[in-house]
Amino acid sequence: MFFDFFKKNDTLPKLDFSSLKTDMHSHFIPGIDDGAQTMEQSIVLIKKMLDLGYTKIITTPHIMADYYRNTPEIILSGLDKVRAELQAQSIDIEIDAAAEYYLDETFENKLNSGNILSFSDKYLLFELSFVNPPSNIEYMIKKMNDKGYKPILAHPERYSYFKNGLDDYYRIKEYGCYFQLNTMSLIGYYDKNSQRTARDLITNNMIDFLGSDMHHTKHASALKETLSSKYVIEALQENYLMNDEL
Ligand SMILES: [Fe+2]
Repeated sequence: MFFDFFKKNDTLPKLDFSSLKTDMHSHFIPGIDDGAQTMEQSIVLIKKMLDLGYTKIITTPHIMADYYRNTPEIILSGLDKVRAELQAQSIDIEIDAAAEYYLDETFENKLNSGNILSFSDKYLLFELSFVNPPSNIEYMIKKMNDKGYKPILAHPERYSYFKNGLDDYYRIKEYGCYFQLNTMSLIGYYDKNSQRTARDLITNNMIDFLGSDMHHTKHASALKETLSSKYVIEALQENYLMNDEL
């Protein structure tokens, strides 16, 4: 009986993020945004991702004219340092970097210049203001597509000004845009409104990628907690998410 119990549990799928393989939203380049501030913190967070089952990380520092004036050069030189430290500590995980672009008045110039950090097959992660609804989202999504990019809207569930049920979201997808949900939203990490929207989006198959959006160890604990959520378990089992293609 005792042994039967273990045998049975051995056959259960492991409850971690290994089926996703890749996380494509995090803040692990030290000292350049509101994520990890030191190399030590970066390594702690990356080890947490390994523990959670991820085998590849595409980390995405903020690029925002008002607060984080990062450039591809700053981000990539930070990536080199993180890679060197991982190698020095024999930590085996694949890591790349892109960015989380804030849709501000400088973004279009960046897009026009071509000096843009995208990932995999020209995926481009962008975010909106949490306070002010965007006035030009249709134009910008179409422009990103015209330039050959595949835009991914970061944490669509967190923009509380989208209030028309899912209509706003269907409309944005129709402009030509993927959605990345913050996994932690599903357990109410941010607030009730974003939790409700997150659950609506995922049960209506509107989500293309799950992201950790990890900045610090509190996020790592919350992410671990999400593995008990039926919404997360179902999403991982149904296997329609595209993280593993990155
Ligand atoms: Fe982020």
